[in-house]
Amino acid sequence: MINALRGMKDLLDNDGKLYKFIVETCEEVAKNYRYEFCETPKMEETGLFKRSVGESSDIVGKEMYQFTDKGGNDVCLRPEGTAGVVRAFIEAKFDKAGGVKKYFYSGSMFRYERPQRGRLREFHQFGVECFGESSVYEDASVILMLSEILNKFNIKTTLKINSLGDSECMPLYRQKLVKFLESKDGLCEDCQRRIKTNPIRVLDCKNDHCQMLLKDAPLITDNLNQICSSEFEKLKEILAQNGVKFEVDARLVRGLDYYCKTAFEFVSDEIGSKSAVAGGGRYDRLVEFLGGKATPGVGWAMGIERIMEILKQKELPNFRDGIYICALDNAYVNDIYKIAFELRKEHKVEVSYEAKSPNKHLNLADKKNAKIFLCIGEDEAKNSQIWYKNLDTKEEKRINISNLKGEL
Ligand code: HAM
Repeated sequence: MINALRGMKDLLDNDGKLYKFIVETCEEVAKNYRYEFCETPKMEETGLFKRSVGESSDIVGKEMYQFTDKGGNDVCLRPEGTAGVVRAFIEAKFDKAGGVKKYFYSGSMFRYERPQRGRLREFHQFGVECFGESSVYEDASVILMLSEILNKFNIKTTLKINSLGDSECMPLYRQKLVKFLESKDGLCEDCQRRIKTNPIRVLDCKNDHCQMLLKDAPLITDNLNQICSSEFEKLKEILAQNGVKFEVDARLVRGLDYYCKTAFEFVSDEIGSKSAVAGGGRYDRLVEFLGGKATPGVGWAMGIERIMEILKQKELPNFRDGIYICALDNAYVNDIYKIAFELRKEHKVEVSYEAKSPNKHLNLADKKNAKIFLCIGEDEAKNSQIWYKNLDTKEEKRINISNLKGEL
């Protein structure tokens, strides 16, 4: 017996429906913000993620599914979606063309992490990326879009925001922070390493002792230059004006190296302690860093399995739809089969090839989540009619077969 790999899951039945429901809801909202579908490969050259997500990040340092393919290329399964979309944007020469491009995507991401609730090795993200727009109104727009999506799912979250500064104030802040960190004894091994590779990551270390030592650490929000500081103020103003509540978390640094200015996360208590259900931010240097013409970018990604975990604890959405059509006697199976063939041009139809008792058929229709039950028995056959039952409203009637399409 061969099972799925650890940390990888099948999406069947209600899980599959829930997954589709989440993606379709996200797409609907993203389209209202004029974002367009895109899809990029699930495997890329390893160098793409090393250069963008960053060699010092846990994702690149510890979690990549990396291997040499048969042609001797160093490749890996994508651990996140942004780098691939940026590569595609540059490869299509959209950076040279200028203008604004806005994309949404969904699909598998791979991280070799220790699996637990809401944390998988193959998981799915829905994400959006906007290129060519430097206005802070777009930072606000992507946050409003995400907040709108989470509201549609009725999920309670806390929005945390921060500004990481730009290429002017971020390095100065780093120097200040390193000086502070070097004056502290007893930071954990990971933090010792991070001081050298990416000091701001020390700020979100989960070790209690480190957090105690960091109590008086300088904060990035106190060290922003004038542009970053006024844009951060503007972002807070727009969010407040549009009714989106937030907390400023000056220690929110995110686990990926490409961010500057805005960084944010929506966290929820509903899947273990304060898990991020979605996160993102601005990445104005990434396009240039990957070889393109300097183009600002901003976006986010949501963990679909995390949303699924939360929704499963609530009442599931009603997935009933389509028609279940059946017969009470095998003599009528040909008839219902023919009717189904016609109906399938417009409707989702499940046909039962075997006669059964009304109750058995009704149970099956219910199990299959059908909304409409159609059945032919002796009485109906005699009158060229069909028995109709709406399994949501329980309304029942007989319909003349010649009128069926119109009645449905
Ligand atoms: P991220 O924070 O690494 O950001 O991932 C986004 C979301 O993916 C997380 O908030 C979480 O819900 C989900 N996620 C991450 N790892 C796992 C896992 N092992 N199992 C289940 N869910 C997981 C990014 O990936 C950036 N590319 C987001 C972005 C887009 N920034 C700008 N544009």
